[in-house]
Amino acid sequence: MGFLAPERVELSGEVAACARCHGPSGRGSREGGVEVPDITPGALGHSRTRAVGEVEDRARPAYSRATLLRAITEGRSASGRELGMTMPRYVLDDAEREELLAYLVQLGEHPDPGVSPTTLTVGAALPLTGRLGPLGQEAAAVVRAVFADVNASGGIFRRKLELIVEDDAALHEPRNVTRSNAETTTGLLARENPTRVETEGPQRVTPDATTRLLDRGVLALVASMRRGPLPSDTRLAAEGAPLVLPLALTGGTSEEDSPVFFLYPDEPSLARLAVQSLANTRESELRRKPLVVVHTGGEAGQAWAQAVRAETTRREFLSPVELTLPDGTLPVERWASAPPPAVLYAGTPEGLATLLRALEASAPTVRVLAPASLAIPEVVGASTARIHFLYPAGLGERAPELKDFVAFMKRHGLAPGHSSFQFGAYAAARVLVEALTRTGAEVTRASLTQQLEALRDFDTGVSPPVTFGVNRRVGIQGGQLAALDPTTNQLVAASDWMPLTP
Ligand code: HEC
Repeated sequence: MGFLAPERVELSGEVAACARCHGPSGRGSREGGVEVPDITPGALGHSRTRAVGEVEDRARPAYSRATLLRAITEGRSASGRELGMTMPRYVLDDAEREELLAYLVQLGEHPDPGVSPTTLTVGAALPLTGRLGPLGQEAAAVVRAVFADVNASGGIFRRKLELIVEDDAALHEPRNVTRSNAETTTGLLARENPTRVETEGPQRVTPDATTRLLDRGVLALVASMRRGPLPSDTRLAAEGAPLVLPLALTGGTSEEDSPVFFLYPDEPSLARLAVQSLANTRESELRRKPLVVVHTGGEAGQAWAQAVRAETTRREFLSPVELTLPDGTLPVERWASAPPPAVLYAGTPEGLATLLRALEASAPTVRVLAPASLAIPEVVGASTARIHFLYPAGLGERAPELKDFVAFMKRHGLAPGHSSFQFGAYAAARVLVEALTRTGAEVTRASLTQQLEALRDFDTGVSPPVTFGVNRRVGIQGGQLAALDPTTNQLVAASDWMPLTP
């Protein structure tokens, strides 16, 4: 508990944390006109002379245990001078005094995990084997090549970047496959050695790749592949280790203080963007006729429908009609004479094919909007003119230039593969390098997070510009409508860039 003079305003918890003012490594700062002194042992253990041009004389002898405690509890410097009002006065019991002094004695001397005088070690949890193995390998190669470029030009403040990858294949294999493997193994083991099954059977929880990387002591994670939140996220949060731009198969949401920084928005955000885009052109129609939401169930489907509902309510449009495939029936005959303003679809490609074929047969004028992950030519078939995709990665004038990326791939002899994963890995490595460079020589997880939060309009070379903030964990917040060009099977811009309104 701290108190701010002179009215003794009570501060507690995070607000009173020393690091908030003195910085994550205790080195202080001079930002905003207030000089916050360095409180690492090197500074407090030595006398300080009056600096040139210093208005107030802050000269003082070296701190002793007793004068240091006095500074913290009574706000008096080692010289006896009363410390400024910004430095809180703390109420500490005996145990807290001991702990705080023990902490201050070693402050700044133990670097964060993954930081050595010569190296910065970061990790990536990627599938290296199994079905997605090739994608994981490609992504790792791109990150390594970005690091190699940085290292070839001297590293970051003389430290070389090192990537370690843990295989996360198990996370990405379909559940039923894993289970049947496990069952076969159990069967075999049971016949040979039944006791072993009990102790080391498939029930045993093996730590995931993220946990293993944290155990190996990485500074941060970069470009890990993931579908959604993971139990190990709590470990990331507790240790304050950021995960920079995961290759997120479903995008990410802005969650305050989350350790995960995403590149693209998730599907519910795209649903909001869909409603926003319709509102721009057909506002009055949306007040008279309800939108239709179609999805294929599950949590993702619910989230999609919920996002459309929330956005229509917010804009005072009629509530949407919600239909679920494959069980629900599509009232396409009715839509033939009374078409809805649009159908907003998210779910499996099979579900989209069912929807589009039904519309082609009975209500060919109805317009469909879906996330760009569903822009699959075989699924879209003859409906190219009636379906628009929500695309956050930049098309037309917004399209990234890619020329640096192409040159980079050539220089490193990397073959073009699954481009969205290679782009994602490249963007992730570039963002990490930028934030680390801005962090300077004093690298901690906390200072890296601060620099990520300070990133504004950063050009990754492979995506629209990236901006993060204290409350913003999705770097690109917006998108365009895109159409599938039937002759080239490529997505082309069908609208200007639309920033996602918060
Ligand atoms: C709200 C901001 C803030 C917080 C929180 C804060 N300090 Fe300070 N601290 C300052 C400022 C500003 C000064 C400089 C005051 C001056 O010199 O007049 C200072 C001065 C000091 C000094 C004297 C340094 C010297 O060279 O004379 C020590 C020691 C110190 N702080 C330790 C701590 C510790 C330990 C904590 C946490 C328990 C803490 N501070 C929390 C702002 C803060």
